[in-house]
Amino acid sequence: LSILVLHGPNLNLLGKREPGIYGSLTLAEINHLLAAEGQKLQVSVFPVQSNHEGVLVDTIHEAPGTYQGILINAGAYTHTSVALRDAIAGVNLPTVEVHLSNIYRREEFRHHSYIAPIAIGQISGFGVQSYILGLQALVHHLRKDKV
Ligand code: DQA
Repeated sequence: LSILVLHGPNLNLLGKREPGIYGSLTLAEINHLLAAEGQKLQVSVFPVQSNHEGVLVDTIHEAPGTYQGILINAGAYTHTSVALRDAIAGVNLPTVEVHLSNIYRREEFRHHSYIAPIAIGQISGFGVQSYILGLQALVHHLRKDKV
């Protein structure tokens, strides 16, 4: 199995960006931990980060055939982007939504996700563990593990 990991806007700043909210790990460190978890689960993990909505949409369009599932932290586009949601719905690949912070205990404008209704599920609030748990959940879903 190959999993596309999409990181949206501003996640390239991780490590120095509001560490009280997002933690001190860099995006490279998060990608490294995901690759290690991927190895344990025997799946390939390909990370892509973009600050550009259209690039994220294009990357999703190109995913079928190469990837069997998507793990996405859409950053602020979570709360604004019908285009990202439509792209994911359009390619019909199983998708898990993750957030480092708990979006429901933050500002009201972060409480709504356009992605959530078309995702298998969402994991929010566990820092880098949100990504690890999300990857595990996605792989379990793809393998149809019944545990
Ligand atoms: C985030 C939460 C979003 O509200 C925010 O815009 C981000 C990061 C998270 O991982 O906690 O950029 O997706």
